[in-house]
Amino acid sequence: MSAQPASQSSNKLYQFKLVLLGESAVGKSSLVLRFVKDQFDDYRESTIGAAFLTQTVSLDESTTVKFEIWDTAGQERYKSLAPMYYRNANCAIVVYDITQPASLDKAKSWIKELKRQADPNIVIALAGNKSDLVSRRAISTEDARSYANEGGLLFFETSAKTAHNVHELFTAIAKKLPLEQIAASRNRNSLSQRQGIDLAQAGNTNGCAC
Ligand code: GTP
Ligand code: MG
Repeated sequence: MSAQPASQSSNKLYQFKLVLLGESAVGKSSLVLRFVKDQFDDYRESTIGAAFLTQTVSLDESTTVKFEIWDTAGQERYKSLAPMYYRNANCAIVVYDITQPASLDKAKSWIKELKRQADPNIVIALAGNKSDLVSRRAISTEDARSYANEGGLLFFETSAKTAHNVHELFTAIAKKLPLEQIAASRNRNSLSQRQGIDLAQAGNTNGCAC
């Protein structure tokens, strides 16, 4: 698991690997762009392979969570790459488009795959994106929410375009991650395997520690 605390005076910085999955064009890259740079593009190029970005969330004055984000490509031809990105992920956001029922089916199949193949403690959030497209809605909030509740998933309807619930989504994930527990297990592993990176000394780089 890629999470560890590093003291910064009295502050703790925890680092987690997060993966985004979902059908092409549901808005995965747009959600990341909104979260990381607070921007939105009406015309985005489809992702090739995957993109890597980082962003931090402050939970309180002394606790910061740094997400290492893998934004995967939703096109079918890249499907076989996904396990490389969700393997060892601490958390996943599975995205569908509230105007496209087939995209929810695809999201459900990713969730099944994560539950079968990813880390058993992975925190999974389901995100119904494009909530701004009110007149084109084809999936009700309640149907998606009850599916998410049954599966123990976090659930948010989001809009990368208006920024609705984007910060809330990432913050809820950060809050649900068992910070101390994961950090402790990371420390145990690093004793026998390798030294972890001291984030306080390394600075807030964009380097991938996965
Ligand atoms: P792949 O990289 O192919 O997997 O697609 P993706 O899931 O990363 O989708 P992307 O972020 O590239 O967005 C696809 C299109 O949807 C773009 O034209 C975006 O501008 C648009 N889009 C993304 N999010 C929203 C949203 O919240 N509302 C609206 N109206 N459009 C959105
Ligand atoms: Mg993309």
